[in-house]
Amino acid sequence: MLPALLPLLLAGATVAGRYEATWDSIDSRPTPEWFHDAKFGVFVHWGVYSVPAVGNEWFWSFWRQNEEKYVNFMKNNYPPNFTYQEFAKQFRTELYEPNKWADIFSSAGAKYLVVTTKHHDGYALYPSNYSFSWNAKDVGPGKDLIGPLAKAIRNNTDIRFGIYHSMLEWFNPLYEKDKGNAWTTQTFAKQKAIPELKEIVELFRPEVVWSDGEWESPPSYWGSTEFLAWLFNDSPVKDSVAVNDRWGSGTKCAHGGFYDCSDHYVPGGLQTHKWESATTLDSASWGYRREAALADYRTGAECIELLVKVVSMNGNLLLNVGPTKEGMIPVIMEERLRQIGSWLKVNGEAIYSTRPWSHQNDAVSSNVWYTQDKNKTAVYAIFVGWPPGGKGVLGDVRLAENATVTMLGYQGQLKWSAADSNVTVQFPDMSQVYQPGWAWALRLTGVAN
Ligand code: GLC
Repeated sequence: MLPALLPLLLAGATVAGRYEATWDSIDSRPTPEWFHDAKFGVFVHWGVYSVPAVGNEWFWSFWRQNEEKYVNFMKNNYPPNFTYQEFAKQFRTELYEPNKWADIFSSAGAKYLVVTTKHHDGYALYPSNYSFSWNAKDVGPGKDLIGPLAKAIRNNTDIRFGIYHSMLEWFNPLYEKDKGNAWTTQTFAKQKAIPELKEIVELFRPEVVWSDGEWESPPSYWGSTEFLAWLFNDSPVKDSVAVNDRWGSGTKCAHGGFYDCSDHYVPGGLQTHKWESATTLDSASWGYRREAALADYRTGAECIELLVKVVSMNGNLLLNVGPTKEGMIPVIMEERLRQIGSWLKVNGEAIYSTRPWSHQNDAVSSNVWYTQDKNKTAVYAIFVGWPPGGKGVLGDVRLAENATVTMLGYQGQLKWSAADSNVTVQFPDMSQVYQPGWAWALRLTGVAN
């Protein structure tokens, strides 16, 4: 065997360097470097469910299952025979300006975007050739919502554009028929879900393909490994695309690309496989929900703390916003995003392009999380909340004599001392630069462990 081919074979690819439609081969593809570096993405759930904007994006399903809240809402506010499809006419998106979204996401410090192109209700947010009359061109906005956003993101920001796609469609008769046949027929998967997903990839060249709605049937029903082999071998984004792990029952946390596992996933410690925490600003819904109370929204401080923790454990944070039917990002969500961005502007060095260090959460100060620069020239100790008396105590760090300690956003070195296997750093007077509960990052060089 030619020695030059050895790494390819070891990586699970075929001799020709192509991926095969098997999990062994698909799983051998490394997560693209850019995704490791990006750390923070914005998720957008937007669609017909943003019209009633009550409960959550499962509105149609819950209503059809006769859940009281939804049945009463419809009874009290709409004529008796009103259908979910009729909401689509009110999905006008008349205030939608993709450039404004791009500005907000970029001010948030996000490095990738994942936007719903189709959720479980089947409505496509672009003129899909596979969703006749149930798409944004034919009913509602009267135009493509996705293409202009991809363009605004690419033209105005350094954000990578990505898409969410639901495999299943709750009430699609073809899907229901395959389900009735215990997935022995694949009409819906072969004629609808997969061709539409390929169309999305070809039209919008997303660098994240975030699959969902896969769980009722096995990957063999969807043809997931075949799709992924196409995506990695022959699609227009074959080299740079990152994918998640929702490709059929049993694949979460096990197959595909980076692991999302369950919604809002946060593991208890370092994960060697690249993972992502997909979660929401409104704790109770992915779609916009008019009845949300202020307390339901995560604060800026909570978002920053989550980001820091997640990154230290080898994750990315994908934080969701739900735009309104008019196409506005609710200002409370915009504010939270901009708060994260203002923190990242100063402290991004301790987040972006970092890699996990040997320790994640400090043994003495439980509010301290570690990262390290990818060239291993510095360790970052990120303090969530201001330490008492401005004395930062680190139990997991050993410093060489010539070590330096600085604080991001502050000029000059900080005084430190070592005793009883702890390092104590005297913080400069920076407690007022952020709001309470935000985080301060120390940059340490000369770390001896
Ligand atoms: C779930 C939900 C869905 C949401 C998604 C985001 O699978 O069904 O409404 O889009 O998670 O992670």
